Amino acid sequence: MAETSERVERLVDELTREEKLRLVRGTTDPAGTATGYLPGVDRLDVPEFRLVDGPLGVRAEDERATAFPTALALAATFDPDLAREQGAAIAREAKAHDQDALLAPGTNIVRVPHCGRNFEYYSEDPRLAADLTAGVVEGIQDEDVVATVKHYVANNQEQNRTEVSAEVDERTLRELYLPAFRAAVEAGVGSVMTAYNRVNGTHMSDHRRLVADVLKDEWGFEGYVVSDWYGVESTVGAATAGLDVEMPGVSVTDSRDAPDEADESSSETDVDLGSIDGVPDPTEAGFFGEPLAEAIDEGAVPAERLDDMVARVLGQMERIGLFDGDRGDGALDTPAHRDLAHRIAARGTVLLENDGVLPLDDATDVALVGPNVHEATLGGGGSSETTPFHSVSPREGITSRAEGEVAVARGVPEIEDVSLFDLLPFVGDDAGEESDDAGPDPDPSKDEAVAAAEAADVAVVVVRDATTEARDGDDLRLPGRQDELVEAVADAADRTVVVVNSGGPVELPWRDDVAALLAAWYPGQAHGAALADVLYGDRDPGGRLPVTFAPEDAYPATDESQYPGVDGVADYSEGPFVGYRHFDAADAEPTYPFGHGRSYADFRYGAAEADGDAVRVTVENRAERPGREVVQAYVRPPAAPDGVERPVRELAGAAAVELDGGETSTVEVDLDDLAFARYDPDDGWVTDSGAYAIEVGRSSRDVRTTVRVDR
Ligand code: GLC
Repeated sequence: MAETSERVERLVDELTREEKLRLVRGTTDPAGTATGYLPGVDRLDVPEFRLVDGPLGVRAEDERATAFPTALALAATFDPDLAREQGAAIAREAKAHDQDALLAPGTNIVRVPHCGRNFEYYSEDPRLAADLTAGVVEGIQDEDVVATVKHYVANNQEQNRTEVSAEVDERTLRELYLPAFRAAVEAGVGSVMTAYNRVNGTHMSDHRRLVADVLKDEWGFEGYVVSDWYGVESTVGAATAGLDVEMPGVSVTDSRDAPDEADESSSETDVDLGSIDGVPDPTEAGFFGEPLAEAIDEGAVPAERLDDMVARVLGQMERIGLFDGDRGDGALDTPAHRDLAHRIAARGTVLLENDGVLPLDDATDVALVGPNVHEATLGGGGSSETTPFHSVSPREGITSRAEGEVAVARGVPEIEDVSLFDLLPFVGDDAGEESDDAGPDPDPSKDEAVAAAEAADVAVVVVRDATTEARDGDDLRLPGRQDELVEAVADAADRTVVVVNSGGPVELPWRDDVAALLAAWYPGQAHGAALADVLYGDRDPGGRLPVTFAPEDAYPATDESQYPGVDGVADYSEGPFVGYRHFDAADAEPTYPFGHGRSYADFRYGAAEADGDAVRVTVENRAERPGREVVQAYVRPPAAPDGVERPVRELAGAAAVELDGGETSTVEVDLDDLAFARYDPDDGWVTDSGAYAIEVGRSSRDVRTTVRVDR
């Protein structure tokens, strides 16, 4: 039983069984804006409780909110303080929309580059994911909104996501997939959302060991565990495993939700809703309604378990002040939120290559080419979609910043967004963002783009992919005829800059033919403004890669048995060797390594010094212009006992620093005990004695100074 206040204890005592069940199973929000809703209990002044998506901004039905850059862009800043700012801003907007819990952050590890939701997650590295997750959780809860860390755990693919079983050994779970969730609990997260998938054969909503034993008992999680939507498999299994709240709790065929019979457009009657890959069966609901009461009466679920479920929910209501009346109005679409979305998008932009063409002179004549330059690329498809009040397209951002001529040519047909909601016959279209910009040219011409590139000083080509929840990518190629467009422009232009807006790693076959290359992820509403800042040098591109870029066949889980799995089983046989851990172990050269990112400044490192708790290094900016550096510290362990293979190096931490031209600063990165430890299935966390090398540098493959620490 979670720690409870006197008020919660009294309420649990006074609530009837029927009233308790109203607090553990969702129903339809009468206001029609929440993603999930608990109706409360008027008799005892227990207020209603609204839950709303999502990690990139508030997705309240038919409502607008600030569209922040995607999680990968935030991750690329390597800045937990910025993560905290973003969490707080989205929480303020949730409150402004009368919502109480935010269904964010999403923090599953980027295991395979194809996963359709990588854009919503932070990294291939557990330490970076953990630090950003904790930042966002703290920010959300600073604003008296409940954060919901998701999807617990090993939800690393969308294909067959509601049934696939991730076969993961304990060491890999502990070292790679669990740390970000543990960091969320240590940051005080109020809610954990279970994933749709199975782990080692058991659905996460029924997973007693990982939910009741590890999350609640071992880590001391005091909040409530909520299912993913339609992600409950049983009544007794889920309740006894530690699930506390069923969402959304109502079936799409429920009389309260069934579309008007006269509504001929609803096609859910002619589609087997449980048969769409990656989409949960929306008729499966009500497990925590009458069936739970029956299970308790039959003794299959202890009555105390229902009391604990209710106490956990009431505890979070109390914690955010729901019993104390006015919680403040929050804030929506403020200048500060617009500025924050802009800052994160610029800071999260990664300069992969630059032969000196960037930053552009103000007077440069530019050919701006790309199928979607007329609109901001907000994010990927699915429950994280947001609809902003305002957005800046690349065309707007660059034409308003440039002093030279800007010729615009789309070159190839527009790349269409894809969305989970296109797959759901029972969900209406969310109000898509109408770009502030005029619509696309009627018929794009590659020849026009080539001609514009030939006439300009520099060609800037903006390309993108299109990813969504519930679908994984078939490959890592850019969609449509974008590669062909880049190659044609690069052949014609004096110098070509390519900007990639993607939901994760993509293949860049023309990269040796261009003068500069930027990974800008899905930048959100400030897309064009942030891009202009970086292209013209108003801001240093502060991003570093949170995921490895490499050819599709170079990643670790390439066998079908590993991904997407065979007969519903995905064998995580690569163990902890995901991302750079794999490329280091295989001594393979990625296209761009984890942590990579150039700057317009020029950073030089002094010799690192370390004691057991931290490593320090002086960094000098030799350039005449300001820049932003992300100092990264990796731990290289001694040989492990026989039979145990350890990663060559693992990120222990990072510190971002802004330096003016000529400025020197001493940067410190903390080294906590876990930075030296490995997980042994029999002995738990162990630290082998011996000499550890602390490698300090600009990326996992650009180590500038090393210092030894003995353990
Ligand atoms: C979705 C997602 C989850 C989201 C929830 C509510 O299926 O998996 O991230 O918060 O349902 O939309």
